[in-house]
Amino acid sequence: MHTAYPPGPRIPRAIQTLLYAKWRGLLLDTAARRYGDVFTLRLVPPYAEQLVVFSRPEHIREIFAGSPADLHAGEGNRLLVHIMGTRSVLLTDEQEHARARRLLMPAFTGSALHGYRGMVEAIAKTHVDRWVSGSTVTALDRMNELTLDVIMQVVFGMTDERRRDELAPLLRRIVNINPIVFFGWKWPRLERYGVWKRMRATQRAIDELLLAEIARRRAHPEVDQRADVLSRLLAVGAGDGADQPLSDAELRDQLITLLLAGHETTASALSWALQELAANPDIQEAARRAAHDGDDKYLKAVLKESMRRRTIIAATGRRLTRDLTIGDIPLPEGTVVSTSILLAHKRSDNYPDAARFRPDRFLDGSVAANTWLPFGGGVRRCIGAGFSLMEGTVVLREVLGRFTVALPEGGRAERARIRNITHVPAHGAKIVVSADAPVR
Ligand code: HEM
Repeated sequence: MHTAYPPGPRIPRAIQTLLYAKWRGLLLDTAARRYGDVFTLRLVPPYAEQLVVFSRPEHIREIFAGSPADLHAGEGNRLLVHIMGTRSVLLTDEQEHARARRLLMPAFTGSALHGYRGMVEAIAKTHVDRWVSGSTVTALDRMNELTLDVIMQVVFGMTDERRRDELAPLLRRIVNINPIVFFGWKWPRLERYGVWKRMRATQRAIDELLLAEIARRRAHPEVDQRADVLSRLLAVGAGDGADQPLSDAELRDQLITLLLAGHETTASALSWALQELAANPDIQEAARRAAHDGDDKYLKAVLKESMRRRTIIAATGRRLTRDLTIGDIPLPEGTVVSTSILLAHKRSDNYPDAARFRPDRFLDGSVAANTWLPFGGGVRRCIGAGFSLMEGTVVLREVLGRFTVALPEGGRAERARIRNITHVPAHGAKIVVSADAPVR
């Protein structure tokens, strides 16, 4: 196929890569202003060498509705293979991916979510009980602790606090991974030294804990009566034999994927939402009223608008396995196409008054299809989307039912920084919490 990639920045590849890794918003905004709706970034591996960026709803629809055989998990995901493993649902394609999703989905259906809610409420209460009125709280840290507790219980049904206390710091170390570690994976000999050696040791320690948990659960007499993800996965293949049972290695990959994909993202979303509410007192008042009245719809709209304005995952990537035309743009096999969540959420044709925090847009039916993309779309749409909205609503209700939140004196809403692949508030979303203000 003869291809001229859509035009894009002409600065050197290495500089584009640095900007993409550290100041992605700036690079994308500038490129979109200069080159329009579709442009090409040229990056250094392990990023895509040609990354074609899309944000118009019709292009997004086409990419998400495309055949999974033509559009494989992208380069961004490839970086994660060393952490999540080669069998992870996030990283496999076609039949292997479809099987993993089929096995995991029952743990995230509406009725399963309903079953988890009481547990999330109890954990949220225990955590918010520790907040002290008048103190400044780093929302991201608090939310990370909370969502990690939640995901460990959903994934493992891990009620033993001692075992959770062993696993939690190891998972935190992985989430806080130093980006330099990625280079170690290109040159395995580095694993004998410094940060690379420590990361390897952390991974080994996590594997030991996960495999011990799997063995313990296999031996549990009532494993078939438990609702956590691990117990459900262990039951695969026991009935009519339609699916092969999962090996320990496959179980390990899916479990670590859920543990990592399922907590930092939700923690970031919640810390952004609290910061938005702190910066918008009128909307906070409406949200506190909603928390008081049990109006989950409004709280969910707050979360959704916050996820729109404060993007958590910047994009999804797909590598073309054959020549493909998207819109009227012919692209050759090997190109990585990016659905830019960051740009789609800022487009003024998608969102009038896009810069403003306005949860009511999610209540009046004005948000069009293929414009709100925090969870991606198509066959790889986030498995935990419903779970994370449920969890977020429960947590907002717990916090706002008891506290008002404000920006610290002289403080301003924080900008984003990229941690691993998640966009988080640069200083952790510092907020001052106060109890006892009457609900108006
Ligand atoms: C606010 C919270 C969350 C955000 C913003 C988020 C975002 C995303 C996005 C954008 C994708 C698509 C990746 C792609 O297309 O390549 C994804 C996939 C995924 N997410 Fe989430 N996620 C969140 C919460 C969760 C939770 C709570 C869980 C699990 C309990 C979870 C598990 C997964 C898994 C397993 C996938 C892979 C799906 C597949 O490839 O088929 N996520 N998530």
